[in-house]
Amino acid sequence: MPDATAPAAPVIAIDGPGGSGKGTVSGRVASALGWHLLDSGALYRIVAWAGLERGVNLADGARLAELAGTLSIAQSGDAIVVDGQDVTQAIRAERISAGSSEVARQPPVRVALRAMQLSMRRPPGLVADGRDMATVVFPDAALKVFLDASAQERARRRYRQLLDQEPGVKVNGPLRDAASSSCGGAARAGEGEHGAAGSNSYAALLESIRARDERDRTRAVSPLRPAADAVTIDTTHMSIDAVVGEVLRYAEQRGLEAAR
Ligand code: C5P
Repeated sequence: MPDATAPAAPVIAIDGPGGSGKGTVSGRVASALGWHLLDSGALYRIVAWAGLERGVNLADGARLAELAGTLSIAQSGDAIVVDGQDVTQAIRAERISAGSSEVARQPPVRVALRAMQLSMRRPPGLVADGRDMATVVFPDAALKVFLDASAQERARRRYRQLLDQEPGVKVNGPLRDAASSSCGGAARAGEGEHGAAGSNSYAALLESIRARDERDRTRAVSPLRPAADAVTIDTTHMSIDAVVGEVLRYAEQRGLEAAR
């Protein structure tokens, strides 16, 4: 039985849009501190994946919430296993990225997933990665970080990730154009040559990131926004190491310690 009088385990909340680096940064911060890690986006992805598998309308929040409650979700090393099936790769597909932000708009889904997220808060501490970790789920987090980056840079990271991590995936369009600039020129170059080339062209990735940002930032429930007391880090021109170092410095300033 948990001790109701014990202080709750400390939380570092790391929020931000897709491609801001929060997944990688959160994992590195959690392992540096020896704390638990919550990838809350994976939960929304799992619900979208399961909904699509079972032919559920992604606008039907009540059915999706019911479905979420029946899923058996397990972590096995780096793999995510849902009802006995390894979905680690499947939930990272572009159609699931879009579907997850669709299901994330449904209040019943957010309520169902919130309980799962709260149950992850355990000693020695939790690094929670998402969109509303600081604003809604863990408003008492000891450190709130909002990571951001330009949409072009985030699309470029996703493009590289697709090339590196998904062998066999068809990636269209030159990274040269995307990488040569982190502002508007990259998008225009990509669009000019490959605009309608396919869902993995740089231009299509940029468009998908912008559409997801728009949905996440403007939805009625738990919109993506920095908490009033969050520190914002623009990672556009920063290395992962530099961002991790900065978050760990903030953690140290707040007296948050690594597990012994
Ligand atoms: O972080 P990730 O890109 O995996 O999240 C997928 C989607 O899940 C986001 O676009 C967002 O719509 C939703 N999400 C959310 N709240 C969270 C985490 C993710 O609404 N805390």
